[in-house]
Amino acid sequence: MEILHVSAECYPVAKAGGLGDVVGALPKYLNAAGHIAKVVMPMYRTKFLYENKWEVVHKGSSYLGNTWFDYTVIKEATNKLGFDLYLVDINGLLDREKIYSYDDDTERFTSFQIAVVDWVSHWVDKPDLIHVHDHHTALIPFMLKHCYQYQHMENIPTVLTIHNAQYQGWMGWDKADYIPHWDGWRWGVLDWNRMINPLAAGIRSAWKVTTVSWSYLHEMRQESNGLEALFEYERGKCVGILNGIDVDVWNPETDSYLDDHYSIETLAKGKRANKEKLCQEFNLNPDKPLFVFIGRLVGEKAADVLPGAIGDSLHYMDQRMNFLILGSGEPEVEAQLSDMRGYWMGYYNSKIGYNEKLSHQMYAGADFLLMPSRVEPCGLNQLYAMRYGTVPVVRRTGGLRDTVIDYGEPDGYGVSFNHATVGDITNAVYRSLVLYEDQMRFDNIRRQLMEKDFSWDISAQQYIDLYKSLLT
Ligand code: ADP
Ligand code: GLC
Repeated sequence: MEILHVSAECYPVAKAGGLGDVVGALPKYLNAAGHIAKVVMPMYRTKFLYENKWEVVHKGSSYLGNTWFDYTVIKEATNKLGFDLYLVDINGLLDREKIYSYDDDTERFTSFQIAVVDWVSHWVDKPDLIHVHDHHTALIPFMLKHCYQYQHMENIPTVLTIHNAQYQGWMGWDKADYIPHWDGWRWGVLDWNRMINPLAAGIRSAWKVTTVSWSYLHEMRQESNGLEALFEYERGKCVGILNGIDVDVWNPETDSYLDDHYSIETLAKGKRANKEKLCQEFNLNPDKPLFVFIGRLVGEKAADVLPGAIGDSLHYMDQRMNFLILGSGEPEVEAQLSDMRGYWMGYYNSKIGYNEKLSHQMYAGADFLLMPSRVEPCGLNQLYAMRYGTVPVVRRTGGLRDTVIDYGEPDGYGVSFNHATVGDITNAVYRSLVLYEDQMRFDNIRRQLMEKDFSWDISAQQYIDLYKSLLT
């Protein structure tokens, strides 16, 4: 089976969060299972582009509204990632350093999708299936069904995976002509509350819709930034498939970002060595339990509650623990998390920004990983933490609910709480301290965590079964 993944992110080419990790890993596992998985994404100007060899495979052109644009598709020449990787270049739109957050993101991602569909229309042997990810690529299933020029490909099954339903790619109806000449009777497929809603169009047009955990699938019918009724209506075509992790990239025995490698046998010593280095760098005390947070500093991640929860924990529990934060996002939260450094010097530190290497060092060196997320479709951080023997401290939501069992329950191995509030987080920190101080139980739990298998093997098979069900 040949599957073409279309995505805005793919690690290590360009990553802003978990979407990049998933698209960088799943195709490898699909290939290992005997299929041919390919990835196509925009050609941003990232380091990966300049450090690798490429060959041009196609040149084409199309319209975005009234604007004629040229596009070029290049392919990585050495199969470095374990799958065929294609980049689409569109001058003036995709040739930027960052992935998102430009004023013209609508134009950038719409033209990218047009280029992909146009390119595929030139393939002699078409892919068996097209798998698109999130709203940036969710117009593709619509285009294959309802754009006259591309309707000859309507028999290619499409799967849309929703990694995050909070962002939907809304655009005004004044931009309707961006989408290549389409069947006007189908305006209702594009529309949601008098806007063009690419995610909604994708949900309606894709043959199957998946999301990245079972709980999130259920939650979307109650809370999905306005699309609740649509998820209820389309529930028959929606499936939850939990993300896996790339156990080659995320392996404390071989991780190239770590100086001190460790396995389950050398867990205590290895984690201690990593913790000492981290604490030295950030002026923290390695003899105290270390709590870390890694992630986007946004409301979804409840980053705004962190300053209060950290302050209360340090204050009411006599600085019996240390905190280290890595992230970037909302400027007010960044400022608060920076300002706190002076007040809690020696107990708290933060690094504002994106730093892949430091994130690995933190998963390895920490005792606990905090994830108080308000919304967490799957969450990969807690899976990485567990692989590195770090206890996840999570709010019961989405994928966190599905992957972490509180240590108070039978066979539990994490710390779970219900609300993204200062009180609940502080209480969870307290329960973590209690666990930490019971050294034997803490060590057993860390071993239990490292034994867990969150690799892609099982989930990749679930995708394969889903693909097969569409091809028969
Ligand atoms: P989301 O995709 O919603 O941000 P996930 O938990 O699925 O959340 O994935 C987040 C990914 O991004 C993980 O690989 C995490 O380590 C990484 N990450 C997030 N913020 C940073 C940061 N500031 N520096 C380095 N890595 C980060
Ligand atoms: C999204 C979600 C996150 C998920 C990731 C990969 O960014 O916020 O929970 O793990 O996608 O699917």
